[in-house]
Amino acid sequence: MKLVRGRLFDFKNQANPFNLSENARYFEDGVLVIEDGKIFAAGDYSQLIKTLPANLTVEDYSGCFILPGFVDAHVHSVQTKAIASDGGELLDWLQNHIFANERQFENADYAYEHTRFFFHQLLKNGTTTAAIFPSIHPVSTEAVFEIASKLKMCIIAGKTMMDRNAPEYLLESPQKAYDNSKALIEKWHHKGRLHYAVTPRFAVTSSPEAFKMASALLKEFDKLYLQTHISENETEVIMVKGIFPVNHNYLNVYDSFGLLTDRTLLGHGIYLSDEELERIAEVGSAIVHCPSSNLFLGSGLFDFQKVINYQISLAVGSDVGAGTSFSMLSNLSEAYKIAALRKRKLYPFQAIYFATLGGARALSLENEIGNFDAGKAADFVVLDPSKIDLLAYRIQDAETIEETLFALIILGNDRLVKATYVMGEAVYKAGEI
Ligand code: GUN
Ligand code: ZN
Repeated sequence: MKLVRGRLFDFKNQANPFNLSENARYFEDGVLVIEDGKIFAAGDYSQLIKTLPANLTVEDYSGCFILPGFVDAHVHSVQTKAIASDGGELLDWLQNHIFANERQFENADYAYEHTRFFFHQLLKNGTTTAAIFPSIHPVSTEAVFEIASKLKMCIIAGKTMMDRNAPEYLLESPQKAYDNSKALIEKWHHKGRLHYAVTPRFAVTSSPEAFKMASALLKEFDKLYLQTHISENETEVIMVKGIFPVNHNYLNVYDSFGLLTDRTLLGHGIYLSDEELERIAEVGSAIVHCPSSNLFLGSGLFDFQKVINYQISLAVGSDVGAGTSFSMLSNLSEAYKIAALRKRKLYPFQAIYFATLGGARALSLENEIGNFDAGKAADFVVLDPSKIDLLAYRIQDAETIEETLFALIILGNDRLVKATYVMGEAVYKAGEI
């Protein structure tokens, strides 16, 4: 058993997730009690210490915030080097920068080296769980699962499937996509903390035959995820109408092939209609809002409030390389501004919720991660406000935890992350290799 002391903040996992003020838990001088990589207890230091054996090791982060590890629900492990590529809107950006970049992941040495760097970026930003898009190359997915398993991380990933409307070198037949995906599923799905997501990239790059193969995989294996993109860009939406004329809207393309389940993660969803949102609510799929990406590619202003009014599970994704930061704090800051432009209000508790317990719920992982309930994995991030002097100065006289968290979101980034823990072990410490 070991103790980690600091300012603990998380949310109780209640049936109504949006009673956030009631569900929020904050211990100014708190402690996590960790046993065998899991949370044994969490609470007020002076109270809990009385109930514990003496002489336990204490890792003391007094003054720092300790939050559940962040959930990045949509990120491309093969696009780290393509971040900040000036390429216009989505379809041009993919053609001009992304596809050529992803091609390099056919080489195993390249794939492992660059995927290690990608994981380092996740951890130095406090992200402990992610839903990851590698490239179409099986080795790019092998690299993700192998590195994640060494780090004991809870990860969702699956090789991208594409069979049209991309350069020849990134295409494979539906049968080959099926065979390659199946081999990866058999090797990695439900191994430790790893989960497989069938990953047709988006409707533009899949034929009906390829979607049938994706659907066959979902039927064949237990509790597979499906991740994809939807209605991110207006030109994309028009193109999908053209290539799937029998489907009456974008969502219906996925729906008609049986791809919508409560483990389906739909990236973006900016231009979804009321009818589509209603259907997503009905099937229990989740939407992943990717704020910095939507701004960078000029994709549009997502209306998060409308989505939660439909009681659809919502998570947040960095979507690097279109996203401009791996930091979930930076992405939440952009989400706040997008909401403001839509005359909506994203409250700080909501924002932190979407990047922790809410993200975990959207990914059906709330029994494993997302808060400090006893029995959950001890995956958490230590944030040191003194590392950004403007932030420390701003929160000196803050009157409530909401006010402090708001400043943390708006001004925070990877510089705040003092340490990141997975299963109770520090896998990243600022200033150490
Ligand atoms: N739609 C299809 N592929 C991609 C991608 O790689 N990034 C983003 N942002 N949208 C996509
Ligand atoms: Zn994406």
